[in-house]
Amino acid sequence: MTKIIAHRGASTLAPENTMAAFNLAYEQGAEGIETDVHLTKDNVPVLIHDEHVKRTTNSTGYIKDYTFKQLKQLDAGSWFSLKFAGSAIISLEEFLDWIQNKPLCLNIELKNNKIDYKNLENIVYEMVSHYQLLNHTTLSTFNPTSIERLKRFNGNIGVALLTSKRRKNLVSYTKDLGANAIHIKYRLLNQLFIDKCHQEQMAVRVYTINKPAHMSRSFQLGCDGIFTDVPHKALQYRELF
Ligand code: G3P
Ligand code: CA
Repeated sequence: MTKIIAHRGASTLAPENTMAAFNLAYEQGAEGIETDVHLTKDNVPVLIHDEHVKRTTNSTGYIKDYTFKQLKQLDAGSWFSLKFAGSAIISLEEFLDWIQNKPLCLNIELKNNKIDYKNLENIVYEMVSHYQLLNHTTLSTFNPTSIERLKRFNGNIGVALLTSKRRKNLVSYTKDLGANAIHIKYRLLNQLFIDKCHQEQMAVRVYTINKPAHMSRSFQLGCDGIFTDVPHKALQYRELF
């Protein structure tokens, strides 16, 4: 069955990548949570999508130029709705602490395709391992070099290549990097591709699926998971499917 994974939490109803969005996705019955990680100036992995804080907080500047303590002062909720004023950016550690005893899978996307944060792979891997969540976690990235680095720590960790581009031999390319899953943009999805991935024991998850027609096609083609901003709707839709 196709897993419903909340993309940045329940991100149409609460500010993305905040505790409010994660809690809501969990309450709605999402089966997994996707989130994005960057590194602060003092090497704390934090959950936010962009390299810059401008779009989702009341401030400006790059994450890499803030200490964690400074980032914590920012308001990551008011841009979305005043109802969420005062919501804070959270660390990966806070997130793992929250998710630890919940029956959820995790997809932590390393946001290292624009800024290749030093040791990000090591820091995230060690933290997930410390929380004993390796079996429930997939680490994904658009950065192929980062996948090779990740595989050096532990051959068994779930690693996914993210891609939005068509390329020849994508399945064998992904396999050769050492990834065991591929996360693709919806427009790359077709039956032949899924079958080829599954023949190679490679999971296929698709982003970002918010329209019913895209949901039903993803379910029908046998995707292993969809990333959606509307997990509550996807769950209802899958019931009917
Ligand atoms: O992990 C799937 C998706 O989140 C990748 O794109 O830009 O939403 O992080 P983006
Ligand atoms: Ca993401």
